[in-house]
Amino acid sequence: MITGGTSGIGEAVVRLLVAEGGRVMIVGRAEERLEAARGRLAGDEGAVALLAADVTAEDAPARVRDAALAAFGRIDGLVNAAGVSATTSLDAGPLEPWHEQWELNVIAPKRLIDALAPAMIEAGGGTIVNVASSAGRRPSATDAAYAVAKRGELALTEVYAQELASRGVRVVAVAPGPTATPLWMDPGGRLDELTAAAGEPRDEVLAAVATKLPLGRLATSEEVAAAVLAALAGLADDGAVLPVDGGHVTETYP
Ligand SMILES: NC(=O)c1ccc[n+]([C@@H]2O[C@H](COP(=O)([O-])OP(=O)(O)OC[C@H]3O[C@@H](n4cnc5c(N)ncnc54)[C@H](OP(=O)(O)O)[C@@H]3O)[C@@H](O)[C@H]2O)c1
Repeated sequence: MITGGTSGIGEAVVRLLVAEGGRVMIVGRAEERLEAARGRLAGDEGAVALLAADVTAEDAPARVRDAALAAFGRIDGLVNAAGVSATTSLDAGPLEPWHEQWELNVIAPKRLIDALAPAMIEAGGGTIVNVASSAGRRPSATDAAYAVAKRGELALTEVYAQELASRGVRVVAVAPGPTATPLWMDPGGRLDELTAAAGEPRDEVLAAVATKLPLGRLATSEEVAAAVLAALAGLADDGAVLPVDGGHVTETYP
């Protein structure tokens, strides 16, 4: 079960899982984007079920659980990859972005875990992967609301790992650094936000970001998705945080 499977990292996870013979339910907000994502699987569409839901909606977790069980009869994995960019400073601006980031990165994953973990326990165990961020490991004031929520998502991972490990459900976080997905690269995305803030040409801002990364470039969705698959395959310990950030944040979390 993957939230955010219509784009970027989540979509790459869907592709890799389907290539491995997996059956996947994708959750996104809009029917047409879900259908388009399924269409891009060319040939493997049958392995994928779709559910249109905003993960922050009150009824979303129960709908997701019921739809996944109806489609596949069991739930072995949950990947929380839904997310949106937010460049929010610490000034006394509106609190909406803070609430939005918290709901999306902490409350929605928490409610989905609460709804789906019992089905995993009943099926003999499973894995939950929260796609957090390097921003949660090294928070920056330039995207404060996002970073604080992502730090919260890392803590959420740890507390649920402690709670669920003995019942056969492993909870793990993947912490990507800047990754060339629509969230970063599309018009209005993170790169445009940084470009507007810097007042410099877009390609120069992108080059400056890449220069700060030891790897020298942004990650690809597939590189992050490979870490998510490794976690789903049981290669990460309970509560582990897998960084995929090109060596950007080197200190041990926390
Ligand atoms: N790209 C990066 O540099 C980067 C770095 C670190 C962490 N991350 C994290 O990685 C995750 C995936 O990001 P991405 O870069 O792959 O972004 P993306 O390409 O923009 O994809 C975001 C996905 O989230 C879904 N989504 C957003 N809000 C939703 C909601 N309320 N309910 C249901 N689905 C929702 C979108 O689906 P619809 O629009 O179809 O509803 C889309 O599938 C996010 O949690 C992000 O914070 C990204």
